[in-house]
Amino acid sequence: MNTYKIAVIPGDGIGLEVVPAAIDVLNKIAEIDGSFRFEWTYFPWGCDYYLEHGVMMPEDGIETLKKYDQIFLGAVGMPELVPDHISLWGLLIKIRREMKQSINVRPAKLLAGLESPLKNPQNFDITVVRENSEGEYSDSGGRIHSGSDEIAIQNAVFTRKGTERAMRYAFELAKNSKGHVTSATKSNGLTYSMPFWDEVFETVKVDYPEIKTVSNHIDALAAYMVMKPQELDVIVASNLFGDILTDLGGAIMGSIGIAPAANLNIEREYPSMFEPVHGSAPDIAGKGIANPIGQIWTGKMMLDFLGNHEAGSRLLNAIEKTLASGIKTGDIGGTSTLSEVKEAIIKNLI
Ligand code: NAI
Ligand code: MG
Repeated sequence: MNTYKIAVIPGDGIGLEVVPAAIDVLNKIAEIDGSFRFEWTYFPWGCDYYLEHGVMMPEDGIETLKKYDQIFLGAVGMPELVPDHISLWGLLIKIRREMKQSINVRPAKLLAGLESPLKNPQNFDITVVRENSEGEYSDSGGRIHSGSDEIAIQNAVFTRKGTERAMRYAFELAKNSKGHVTSATKSNGLTYSMPFWDEVFETVKVDYPEIKTVSNHIDALAAYMVMKPQELDVIVASNLFGDILTDLGGAIMGSIGIAPAANLNIEREYPSMFEPVHGSAPDIAGKGIANPIGQIWTGKMMLDFLGNHEAGSRLLNAIEKTLASGIKTGDIGGTSTLSEVKEAIIKNLI
């Protein structure tokens, strides 16, 4: 039997509620599957830890985390007590960078029982693969002069290695989906980085003759995601374009409370980090009404990354069955509590 050693960082706010719920569900699915088990180790890092110790995690936190197979994180942030840039950079971004989690993956899929804000959403099922370590989000640049002479320069950095890595990962994912990869480009406006991006895409796609491909300019692609999302499959995008498309993906699904995400170290040299898209939601924290589905679906992404696709599908089916039966939290139009949703999902696993 495989034992997965998982570092758990519930974090702050509703992270403390949705993480234990997701762990209950994941333990149940391991029990049903029978071929693997989880060994969870909790780390109380976050804003409370900061208020007590002056740091978001201990000095050797990164070294400690490296000993685990994966990291399962809730959400971080208590903006009333700790400024967001401290909580974000002191924990989340530090882990993403130091563990070289260079790929961010977020699915956007219309689940049964959910209402999309789109008028005619059909059955879209999109996965956005975002380059997570370079591109437009680099610290290369500067500001000089002041007043009307002031100049700001922000350089984008695209490496062949980083670009190719994101694209290959997208092609590999497409092998197990509808077999289609869309590249998000803007080579009509960005005359160095995006022609380079397109060239790398042309080179990589040669290795995947069975996958259909298309390059779309990001502006057109954004419209496409709203008008005809059902025609898309895997999208590969740079850091900035992917950031925007993944939020759009979350929006067309119907609620931030259900959207999952993974920060992957695809070389598997260090642990990857699985965390839902939503934050710590201080406005509803401690009330037992947060939607646990974002965290639970994030658990499915972890199962998939660990190679347990059958268990992953079973989990997503149980989520859909629960939603379709009307057991939902308030953010998606229901009246159920967090623990009612969790219990229903566990029941629907079987
Ligand atoms: P948020 O995602 O925490 O909340 C936005 C709105 O969505 C709120 O009205 C909240 O009640 C609702 N919401 C979020 N998740 C929900 C769920 N599971 N069920 C039901 N409703 C849900 O974003 P906000 O308010 O901008 O940020 C709050 C704190 O979280 C900040 O400190 C921020 O920096 C942090 N944050 C952390 C993230 C992370 O750890 N990855 C991501 C986003 C924000
Ligand atoms: Mg964003």
